[in-house]
Amino acid sequence: MTAGSSQQNAAVVLLISHLCFYGGCQLTELQVGLCHRCNGTVQNGTAVSQFCSGSAGLIDGRCCLQRKENTRDADYIIGLDLSNCSLSHVEDLQDAFNATTIDLSLNPIVNLNNALFEGFIQLANLILPANLVCPGGNASWDKMEVKGETRFCEGQEDICNQTGHLSLNCPENSLCAPYGPGFFQCSCVDDFYGYKCLREGEFPIIQVIGPLAGSTVLVSILLWVTQRRKARSI
Ligand SMILES: *[C@@H]1O[C@H](CO)[C@@H](O)[C@H](O)[C@H]1NC(C)=O
Ligand SMILES: *[C@@H]1O[C@H](CO)[C@@H](O)[C@H](O)[C@H]1NC(C)=O
Ligand SMILES: *[C@@H]1O[C@H](CO)[C@@H](O)[C@H](O)[C@H]1NC(C)=O
Ligand SMILES: *[C@@H]1O[C@H](CO)[C@@H](O)[C@H](O)[C@H]1NC(C)=O
Ligand SMILES: *[C@@H]1O[C@H](CO)[C@@H](O)[C@H](O)[C@H]1NC(C)=O
Ligand SMILES: *[C@@H]1O[C@H](CO)[C@@H](O)[C@H](O)[C@H]1NC(C)=O
Repeated sequence: MTAGSSQQNAAVVLLISHLCFYGGCQLTELQVGLCHRCNGTVQNGTAVSQFCSGSAGLIDGRCCLQRKENTRDADYIIGLDLSNCSLSHVEDLQDAFNATTIDLSLNPIVNLNNALFEGFIQLANLILPANLVCPGGNASWDKMEVKGETRFCEGQEDICNQTGHLSLNCPENSLCAPYGPGFFQCSCVDDFYGYKCLREGEFPIIQVIGPLAGSTVLVSILLWVTQRRKARSI
């Protein structure tokens, strides 16, 4: 990149933040990036467009934004339409963490990272190219169907509220909570903490996050304990 073009980019970013400032919004640069990663704006008639008009959102590029009542808070993405954008891989959607509708259809995506939607508890409508599976599979969605080139994953299931899951996967003294498609988290109940929530006493809330497959939960817990030890020893 030449010095000229990086100056130009800096100017564009400045301009955007100023426009937002005087317009009363506080979009972060990152949100601007995700919403404008693909050409054009959300097209009329698409899932995100319909969802957005139904929820009084604001279209910005490929995003539907929700404006917070309190103008001190940043707007956040409730719908994201990256369809038909020649994407071959998607690495990070963290800025769409609160999104209800995400459309990645009509892209030559070969596979998606399992952890891409970790924590996306609001996600209720995920639209993918038909060659990809719904993250978390059967247990995570009310309805999954393929129409032509496109796969629809609809209505996120509470995987904690399925036969056996609660007692099977969360250690004693902890509660299961959904944590995005294919994920749940176990939080120690009041007063318990430590490895598998086995110790009792006052301690900040501790969470263990596990992917759906039962056998890997213990691995996650162990990893987590190791990380905590490392963090403490620093
Ligand atoms: C989208 O479609 C609706 C009716 O279906 C129309 O009223 C509106 O003007 C269209 N918006 C754009 C940007 O084309
Ligand atoms: C996809 O985008 C191309 C231009 O980039 C356009 O010609 C085509 O109609 C779009 N397809 C759909 C289904 O929107
Ligand atoms: C975006 O638009 C530019 C200019 O119109 C074009 O060169 C580029 O191929 C487009 N990219 C996609 C992914 O459609
Ligand atoms: C998601 O929503 C929460 C609560 O409203 C907010 O604190 C957070 O900043 C939002 N995150 C994103 C990436 O929009
Ligand atoms: C999904 O569930 C149905 C029945 O509930 C079952 O027949 C099917 O094999 C399951 N598919 C997968 C991929 O587990
Ligand atoms: C669990 O699911 C059943 C039906 O599937 C529902 O009636 C019940 O309220 C759910 N319980 C919780 C705690 O979500």
